[in-house]
Amino acid sequence: RTPDACVLVIFGVGDLTQRKLLPALYRLAMEGELNPNFSIVGVGRRDWSDEGFRDFAEDSVKTSKETGDFDQQTWDGFQEGLFFVGGPFDQTETFRKLKEKIEEVSRQRDTGGNVLFYLATPPSVFAPIAELLGEQGLQEEGDGFWRRLVIEKPFGVDLESARQLNAHIHQTWEEHQIYRIDHYLGKETVQNLMAMRFGNVIFEPLWNRQYIEHIQITASEDLGMEGRGAYYEEAGIMRDMLQNHLMQMFSLVAMEPPANFDANAIRDEKVKVLKSITPIPKERVAEFAVRGQYGKGTLYGENVAGYREEKGVNPESVTPTYVALKLEVNNWRWQGVPFFLRTAKRLPKKVTEIAVVFKNPPSDIFPNKAERNVLAIRIQPDEGMSLKFNSKVPGQDNYLREVVMDFKYDAFGQLTGTPYGRLLLDSMLGDATLFPREDEVELAWQLVDGILEAWKEPAPEFPNYKAGTWGPDAADDLLGPNRRWRRL
Ligand code: BG6
Repeated sequence: RTPDACVLVIFGVGDLTQRKLLPALYRLAMEGELNPNFSIVGVGRRDWSDEGFRDFAEDSVKTSKETGDFDQQTWDGFQEGLFFVGGPFDQTETFRKLKEKIEEVSRQRDTGGNVLFYLATPPSVFAPIAELLGEQGLQEEGDGFWRRLVIEKPFGVDLESARQLNAHIHQTWEEHQIYRIDHYLGKETVQNLMAMRFGNVIFEPLWNRQYIEHIQITASEDLGMEGRGAYYEEAGIMRDMLQNHLMQMFSLVAMEPPANFDANAIRDEKVKVLKSITPIPKERVAEFAVRGQYGKGTLYGENVAGYREEKGVNPESVTPTYVALKLEVNNWRWQGVPFFLRTAKRLPKKVTEIAVVFKNPPSDIFPNKAERNVLAIRIQPDEGMSLKFNSKVPGQDNYLREVVMDFKYDAFGQLTGTPYGRLLLDSMLGDATLFPREDEVELAWQLVDGILEAWKEPAPEFPNYKAGTWGPDAADDLLGPNRRWRRL
């Protein structure tokens, strides 16, 4: 499927645009996925001409690890479609100039009036931009052409602000025009969760309380703040990773089979399972959630600073950089099966994994104990899946030992595309399947809000884990008896 010709207007020429969006778009061009008339208008405070923006884009494409080898011919074609409008995001004048530019580019590049607006800005200007676009009538669709709005995370800072943002944007934009980005949904391995569950007959019959003991979802990162300390102070691990990426993975693992692959059929199921999460009473949050913040430590043999020493961070900060959470789901499939979610900065390595841990066999007839079967789904890196089960050790005794069956994505050759590329393409194609709907976002906030509220006091004793270790000890207790966190 080749998308319609369109103009992509990117608000914000900062880190995200430079590191993710432009490289992803260039890569789509290399792979021949874009419409030949595809064009980009960058909007930012810089005082650039179109040339200035092209230089910025060239630099971003050449320095990115995601683009592969630089291809001059692709670049020459790609850069012809790049334009720029300078100005602040809160002034009508910028939007008047933008409207003229869009008209000019549409004529010149024959893009038929289709425009995709991408908000890659700080969240504080999402609502004003959406409104000022409306003031110029730029959101109005017409006969044979579309207008869409892509919004980056974080979508609000809590339930209240997310609701307000939704309400504000809906004053000018209709829900079918809105695409909220969660780049984890752009990952092949995350999409494969549905293929694996619903495209096979061997997993789904076991995917329930009868056979599953518990499920662990881990997204561990080795990186610290990388200069994003000021943003992170406000966000913390709950808003940066848990509310969005972890909750999306949880939804895909726990939801019921959708009626079909339509965006709303899938999103309805995700919403249903989010609604089935047992609310955590404020006074019992400590039984369900463990927070942490890293102090200084060593990683890959190097000394690294603690969170409170990072640039832009308050030296007495109580912002969490680690969370482990126990979720219970009150429905027929999952009653009694805990889901353990953990995510953090500055752990020993970068790995995202979903582990389905099965129950013990009902009878114990072997000389040694059977270990629990585990289906481990590797989201990244070393994308793949492994199934751990018990086998007889050759010999006279009936001893059991764990063995592993492995599938690696390499079997398909190299993974193509980038998560952002996939989602940008989908938004140009008008396919919202991989974009969270407003009710999903709000339900995830509801859960996060309750925990953050309970954490307001007493103040935690931070730091409580050393950079380069697997987090605070209390996280082990969260699991309860006879369970341990996966060694990754
Ligand atoms: C982003 C967070 O959404 O996801 C970052 O803001 C985090 O803090 C990143 O590092 C992780 O994404 P990925 O794709 O590298 O796992």
